[in-house]
Amino acid sequence: MPTYHIQTYGCQMNYSDSERMETYLRALGYKKTDNQKKADLILFNTCSIRQKAEDRVFGQMKKIENLKKNNPKLMVAITGCMIRNSSSRYSPQRDKLFNKIRELDIALKTEDLSCLASLVREINPDIKIPKIKEENLKDYFKIKAAHNTFNSKTQAFLPISNGCDKFCTYCIVPYSRGREKSRKIEGILKEAEELTANGYKEITLIGQTVNSYGKSCYDKDNKNFEKLKNKDPFVYLLEEMDKLRKKGLERVRFSSPHPMDMSDELIDAMAKLKTQMPFLHLPVQSGDNNVLKIMNRPYTIEQYRKIIHKLRKKIPDISITTDIIVGFCGETDKEFQNTCGFFEEMQFEHAYIAQYSNRKGTTADRFMNDDVPQKIKKLRWEKLNNILENQSKKALKRFIGKTSHVLVEVQKGKICTGRNEHFKTVQFKISNKSKKRSEKYSGKIPGKIVPVLVTGSKEWILEGELRI
Ligand code: 5AD
Ligand code: SF4
Repeated sequence: MPTYHIQTYGCQMNYSDSERMETYLRALGYKKTDNQKKADLILFNTCSIRQKAEDRVFGQMKKIENLKKNNPKLMVAITGCMIRNSSSRYSPQRDKLFNKIRELDIALKTEDLSCLASLVREINPDIKIPKIKEENLKDYFKIKAAHNTFNSKTQAFLPISNGCDKFCTYCIVPYSRGREKSRKIEGILKEAEELTANGYKEITLIGQTVNSYGKSCYDKDNKNFEKLKNKDPFVYLLEEMDKLRKKGLERVRFSSPHPMDMSDELIDAMAKLKTQMPFLHLPVQSGDNNVLKIMNRPYTIEQYRKIIHKLRKKIPDISITTDIIVGFCGETDKEFQNTCGFFEEMQFEHAYIAQYSNRKGTTADRFMNDDVPQKIKKLRWEKLNNILENQSKKALKRFIGKTSHVLVEVQKGKICTGRNEHFKTVQFKISNKSKKRSEKYSGKIPGKIVPVLVTGSKEWILEGELRI
């Protein structure tokens, strides 16, 4: 049996895609190996959001060269956001990446997964690939995900759309993943139901702009959404997911929403539905109106502030986190100061702060100057990270002395780790006293939601003890 090894980079969407790729490779008769040296096919599922992410893949190629020397039959495939054209090294029209990576055998666009079998045959016509019904694999979303990333048995990622129509000027995603397409509601709910039946307690719905679900130009012609009439399709989906509570699903999260699609209807649903948690990751990107405009983020900080106020009014203890880019084209000191001020005002509890990285082919690449010096980008990044560190620590303090409900992910000896309602990592010890109490959970804590009295915080995590 040939073996495969997948190495995934980037966002949750990529990890979720890799789970689908695993199912496909197994259908082809491949067996998984965690050891690259033993693999017959190595698949890199790549990210191209920043140059650093691409460099990580290029950095692997020296090792791959050596592996190929030891095993000439080794096939190397690259998929994900670095690929524009599915092809093999023998295809008449090859992806540009073949010019940069000598070791590359197969380039595969994520949505072309069903072509992988024929590309493998182009490289090695002798390889025995069982005949599979390729029509079953045509619709990417119909390929069942293996749902084994992070080996989690408690929480799963569920993609509901792919691609992006927003075209922020700095971002490669609309080019790498293409225009936004939503998955059928029935397919999503079926997968969610199966996950729930398999014991998953938490599902995170994912999409590039997850809350524009059902609203893209493709979706407008889709009869699937017509029947909803004036209802926001994303809100409808959250309501349907909430009904799975009866079957054991406890928590539904979503990532990442776009501020322009944060309707009042959605905020109301977040406040009302029992499976919705007091947590939202809402990328703002900059706290300056001029920078937002140049980024083609079509909202102002005043509008963003209004959304947060509404959320905090309806869900008073909600945790808000965000994404920020520092050093975007032409960003002045004053504009960066505005971002710092806004960051403090919004009291973000966590953030992914990135230094702007020019991506070939984007609007910023074609029409703007990447003119903030690297040194300044780094200084701004450090300054904002310092603010973030203070805010994150402060945000943890409010949980001390209170009970958090923790979905336990792992148990190592007497130490358990999981996430609370607000998505904070909580670590707690099962003391002898609580061990007796934990017998109530028939000795198995992972996979359960347990009350934990938070007693302190360390770095980015909360600490506590089991409270039953
Ligand atoms: N440079 C730096 N950060 C970027 N992001 C997207 N494109 C770029 C880029 N060219 C960040 C944004 C986005 C997150 C996924 O990555 O903050 O929300
Ligand atoms: Fe990129 Fe903007 Fe789309 Fe997010 S919303 S994926 S940043 S283009």
